Amino acid sequence: MSSVVTGKESMPETAKLKIEDREIDLRVVVGTEQEKAIDLGKLRNETGYITLDEGYVNTGSTRSAITFLNGEQGILRYRGYPIEDLASKCDFVEVSYLLIYGELPNRQQLEEFTRSIRRHTLLHEDMRYFYRGFPRDAHPMATLSSVVSAMSTFYQDSADPRDPEHVRVSIYRLLAKLPTIAAYSYKKSIGQPFIYPQNDLTYCENFLQMMFAVPCEPYDIDPDFVNALNMLLIVHADHEQNCSTSTVRMVGSSQANLFASIAAGICALWGPLHGGANEAVVSMLEEIHRDGNLKKFIDMAKDKNNKYRLMGFGHRVYKNFDPRATIIKGACDRLLAKLKIDDPLFQIAQELEQVALNDEYFVERRLYPNVDFYSGVIYRAMGIPVPMFTVLFSMGRLPGWLAHWKEMQESESFRICRPRQVYVGENERQFIPLDNR
Ligand code: ACO
Repeated sequence: MSSVVTGKESMPETAKLKIEDREIDLRVVVGTEQEKAIDLGKLRNETGYITLDEGYVNTGSTRSAITFLNGEQGILRYRGYPIEDLASKCDFVEVSYLLIYGELPNRQQLEEFTRSIRRHTLLHEDMRYFYRGFPRDAHPMATLSSVVSAMSTFYQDSADPRDPEHVRVSIYRLLAKLPTIAAYSYKKSIGQPFIYPQNDLTYCENFLQMMFAVPCEPYDIDPDFVNALNMLLIVHADHEQNCSTSTVRMVGSSQANLFASIAAGICALWGPLHGGANEAVVSMLEEIHRDGNLKKFIDMAKDKNNKYRLMGFGHRVYKNFDPRATIIKGACDRLLAKLKIDDPLFQIAQELEQVALNDEYFVERRLYPNVDFYSGVIYRAMGIPVPMFTVLFSMGRLPGWLAHWKEMQESESFRICRPRQVYVGENERQFIPLDNR
């Protein structure tokens, strides 16, 4: 077997697969962080077999240069930069540029990027009529995905995924308008007038003022909330091939336009096993608070015959700790102390974490608090209503989705994503006419 030297160690160039009476060589692919993969692209042609990996637990769907994460060591880096540095030193718009274009912007690039986004913060006036049609109690994630999808109808002049100029403008439009669409969803739900964006404000300031200002009195934007929101958006900004990002890639691989692809990503994020977990965590903490018996909930989560799970615990990739949860917990501590907020849910969250981290069930399965565990507590402190939590996650994840969609479109190995299956249904049957069934 020949081998290739990758910098740290020597690795085989090929892997051998023995199947029935044949042996074939499969190419080994090594990433820049020495991650190893076996390229199975030619497996079916050469052997008639496909691979089966339900839930994609062990499947690399692409090569990507955007985000590196190591679940064993709790490492997360965007374009090589540790999340801890980006979360404490950057502005969200700067991180968005980094994710989408691959490098940190210099001052001039950042100014131009910021200006381009600001030019697009307003929604087409006719889009406001959509909100009239939605029921007042609609979940804001449903509104968000619908209005983003409807952007394809209003901004047809930037909807061609193969035209780089269209893509450039669509990226600005999405980054600029998502906070406006999100804030309008909230205003609709509480019956207040929409607040237009104000372009002399920063990205986070603008969102907070569209959420909380009313036309009849001044609104003071709290700089602590701005900083907390900025940090939260950054830590949510990308997480390689997660469920919603894979959805954006999957939809985009059919060359659906960027608005349609992002709307699909928002829908995927909504589920409680993914981004919707932040909302589910607060409901769970409230339930524990009302009940007063924390142990009962731990026992329910451990019971094999009970489908109950501790929300905000566990992760497909992180098996030691989630570095985003560590950053958020620290910020949560500082913000609540500064604002002198004594939130019983934060106390319960900390207690739950301690109990679970010392419980054999959770230790054995390496279940740790994930990004969603503490984010809800900060959102609460900022006055963000619970149904908006996943909407804020969408705003944070948007640059990651954009970066992946763009990387895929520009890739030389671009192809439609089309998994196969192992069919386990009926064999061919004789048709039975309706009267004989
Ligand atoms: N509470 C109790 N037990 C759990 C939990 C939990 N939160 N999560 C996993 N387990 C147990 C499972 O029952 C299973 O036990 P078993 O081996 O005895 O059958 C074992 O841990 C492995 O769990 P899987 O479901 O196989 O792990 P998977 O990688 O498929 O799922 C997931 C990961 C979806 C995140 C899961 O841990 C979960 O449901 N967590 C709660 C929801 C949540 O917080 N989601 C947000 C994830 S972060 C994000 O998407 C932004």
